Amino acid sequence: MANPSLLILPGDGIGPEVMAEVRKIINWYGAKRGVTFDVSEGLVGGCAYDKYGTPLHDDTMARAQEVDAVLLGAVGGPQYDTLDFSLKPERGLLRLRKEMDLYANLRPAQCFDALADFSSLKKEVVAGLDIMIVRELTSGVYFGEPRGIFPDNEGGRVGINTQRYTTNEIRRVARSAFELARRRNNKVCSMEKANVMESGVLWREEVQWVHDHEYPDVALSHMYADNGAMQLVRWPKQFDVIVTDNLFGDVLSDCAAMLTGSLGMLPSASLGAPMANGRPKALYEPVHGSAPDIAGTGKANPIACILSFAMALRYSFDMGAEAARVENAVQKVLADGLRTADLMGPQDGTPISTTEMGDAIVAALNASL
Ligand code: IPM
Ligand code: MG
Repeated sequence: MANPSLLILPGDGIGPEVMAEVRKIINWYGAKRGVTFDVSEGLVGGCAYDKYGTPLHDDTMARAQEVDAVLLGAVGGPQYDTLDFSLKPERGLLRLRKEMDLYANLRPAQCFDALADFSSLKKEVVAGLDIMIVRELTSGVYFGEPRGIFPDNEGGRVGINTQRYTTNEIRRVARSAFELARRRNNKVCSMEKANVMESGVLWREEVQWVHDHEYPDVALSHMYADNGAMQLVRWPKQFDVIVTDNLFGDVLSDCAAMLTGSLGMLPSASLGAPMANGRPKALYEPVHGSAPDIAGTGKANPIACILSFAMALRYSFDMGAEAARVENAVQKVLADGLRTADLMGPQDGTPISTTEMGDAIVAALNASL
């Protein structure tokens, strides 16, 4: 059988630094576990714009469609803020999501024991937390038409975006959430604003339909998204799987991320329909952004990106035990007290660097054999 193939898109800011640490893990699998990945690399975001005048070259897009999985670092930076919307770094990422049709974005928020004290919430609220946000990723207000900034009738302007969801778009992401719940604690909470939005009413009805017809064994509840945000910080352990739309999912997943102590810890998987080889179309990326303020300083935490690779092992390559090996290695390093700067308060001693964290995780992998 051919080696599994990966396209690595480090992107901007701290993206290349954290991805260099993921490379160490990928190489470790070749050297120590006999799993050799065919790795190619490309540009996305601001760096692609600098080189090609577009945040995603067509050749890179085509390559992303061919490989088994794409690993992405982060995109964006202040120097691109004034670019036309169509040229912004974020458009490269959004094009990948849309053209690969990666409709289900899995964002786990897990609180590692060693970090429970570091969350801004009380320890008892977050200790042992393990929830999964499933965010719809290819539709809604991110992509709905009409959109744009137009002149209005009063000599001013009007900015328009459109929230739009179809039955099929809602049902397929709902199925992803129910499937995940069956392998976890069998609970799904769906979040929308059915009290003010017609698209929210449809969302609620379609999720309920999928439940009643296909997953009656899973416990389903519905919540308005604003209440959901409040419940996430009040008592997050009430949730197992949360399913929600693109925009609410963007906001709620940042909120959930902070429960775990740092945005530098959170991985994500974006999955689409199965390809000819049975593997889903897939892109893996950390939830954090490009953090231009710390780029090049060695302060970045590579764990979110490394855990994203662990998700690739689990969801693309059916290597759940190996994914757990990587996750346990991260757990061990944290339990040993090693911390990058984002995981420390001012009084907590000396942080280790991005590369030192990567090396420590490789050492923990070696110790796991
Ligand atoms: C995310 C990010 C992106 C989004 C940006 C970078 C386009 O915030 O993945 O959560 O809004 O989806
Ligand atoms: Mg976001």
